[in-house]
Parts: sequence; structure tokens; C-alpha cells
Amino acid sequence: MLQNETVTIIGAGNIGRALIGGLITGHEFEPAQLRATRRTESALPPLQQDFPGISTTSDNPAAVQGATIVVLAVKPYNATGVIEEIREHVHPQTLVISVLAGVTAQALEEAFGQEIPVVRAMPNTPAIVDEGASAITGGRFATTKHLGLARHIFETVGTVEVVPEHMMDAITGLSGSGPAYVYMFIESLTDAGVKQGLPRSTAFRLASQTVYGAAKLVRDTGKHPAILRDEVTTPGGTAIAAVAELEAHGIRTMLINAVATATRRSEELSKQ
Ligand SMILES: NC(=O)c1ccc[n+]([C@@H]2O[C@H](COP(=O)([O-])OP(=O)(O)OC[C@H]3O[C@@H](n4cnc5c(N)ncnc54)[C@H](OP(=O)(O)O)[C@@H]3O)[C@@H](O)[C@H]2O)c1
Repeated sequence: MLQNETVTIIGAGNIGRALIGGLITGHEFEPAQLRATRRTESALPPLQQDFPGISTTSDNPAAVQGATIVVLAVKPYNATGVIEEIREHVHPQTLVISVLAGVTAQALEEAFGQEIPVVRAMPNTPAIVDEGASAITGGRFATTKHLGLARHIFETVGTVEVVPEHMMDAITGLSGSGPAYVYMFIESLTDAGVKQGLPRSTAFRLASQTVYGAAKLVRDTGKHPAILRDEVTTPGGTAIAAVAELEAHGIRTMLINAVATATRRSEELSKQ
């Protein structure tokens, strides 16, 4: 599907590098079809070393010339400057994919000043290990083909949901920011093990593998988490004693409120 595409990643940081890695290891895409940019010149040789065969440059206008897909993967506060730099050089039929948190498709269309196809995506950092959870949504000028191309790109680094744009703030609060909550959970579980006398390294390995394994079991079996939880809670046993403690401290309300706060923050940022 991507054989005829030339993809430019503007801003090869965490997310940009994850996409480059996913596209290359996906095997249907030659490194020569990929261009990546960074502002810092000294960051370009290491990028070439990590992804042999791709082109790298700090010259954004040159990098987008002739590209069929341009991925905006800089921080949102760098986006205005980057778009000003490249908009004259982007062909109106080029698909622009943006991972910029809190920047609407309409704002991007206006910033480019042309009827350009835009797909907005909200990935997350587990994309770095090809286990990302991404949501994508099309702008006014994006066709089914454009959404298909974007889906294909993000599927190289994990799963993809196609959603209406009004869901993007909630998705930012849930899966975009979600890894932070899970890291806190792993860290706390590790401390809990240390409190019970386990060596920290042992507790850390057990805590992270437990989260990974439980997530994989939910995903691979498709079973409701409550059923899987019931399967590990022996009557009068250890797990149910801990579950009661978590319920007493309102773990569900805590997470519901955390995601609501992150969603509100995403809405606020979209309006700035
Ligand atoms: N991280 C997440 O969990 C996450 C999740 C969903 C969406 N996002 C979105 O993804 C985007 C990137 O996030 P990230 O975590 O990957 O950030 P990051 O690691 O800081 O990467 C951003 C990259 O952009 C480069 N850059 C900045 N200005 C540039 C310019 N003018 N020209 C070319 N490159 C430039 C930076 O390179 P230099 O250092 O050389 O300047 C840096 O490597 C953000 O918009 C964020 O909202 C992130």
C-alpha cells in the first residue's frame, strides 16, 4: 500500500522515530522512501546510523518537496513555525498527518492555507516498541484512501481506531496520556513489593511483567476484565483482600477523574 509513497517525518523524536522504525520493519517500505528531519544538525548522523538508508536533514522545506505524505511530529509549540516554513513547498495533494496533541484538523487546514488532506492522529509512546494504541480522524479534505494510508502507517506500530474528531480530547486523556498512569502503577507495585521485603530489582521485574501479562491476557482473550479478575480471586483468599482495599480507596473514581482532568486539559490546549 505504501510502495509508491515518499514519507517525510518532520521532527524525529519519540513518536517520529517510532514511526520510522515501524515503517522500516514493516518490510513493505524501503528506507529510501523515508526522509526525517530534526532541528539539531548533530542529531542527524545518529538517526542515519539507527535507520540506514533514510535521508535526514534539518532543511524542512527541502524535505517535504516531492513527498506524498508529511508527518508533523514536532511538539505543538514548534508547529506554527514549521508549517510556515513548509506550506509553500507542500503539494495540495500531499497527505498531512499530524500527531500534534490539541491541534484540530481545521486549525491545520487553515495554517496550511489550502484545501489539503489532513489526518489527525493520537498515538502513544508504546509505539516505540510497536505496541502503540493510536486513534486517527480525518479532516474535511481527507478521503477514505487518506485514512487508509494513515491507518496503515500507525498499524506498523500497534493498533488503530478510526474515530470522529470530537473524541480526540478524551482519547488524549485515555490512551495518549495513559502510559503515564500505568508507569505510576508499576512504580507503586514495585514499592509495595519492596515494602514486603523483596529486592527492588526482583519487585520491578515482577511488577512490570504482571502488568504486561495481564494486559496481554485481556487483549488476546477479549474477556471482560471483571471475569479475569474473578478468576484470580479465590473466596477468602489474598487477591480479594487486596481488591477490597483498592475499592475502599476509590481506585475506579480516581482513574475516572484523572482521565476527565486530562481530557479537560486537552480541550483547553485545543482552544489556545
Ligand atoms: N510523547 C507522547 O506520549 C505523545 C503522545 C501522543 C502525541 N504526541 C505528540 O507527538 C508530538 C511529538 O512528541 P514527542 O514526544 O515525540 O516529542 P519529542 O521527542 O520532543 O520530538 C519532537 C522532535 O521534534 C524536533 N523538532 C523540533 N522543532 C523542529 C523543527 N523546526 N524542525 C525539525 N524538527 C524539529 C525535535 O528535534 P530537535 O531536538 O533537534 O529540535 C524533536 O526531536 C507532539 O506534538 C505531541 O503532542 C506525543
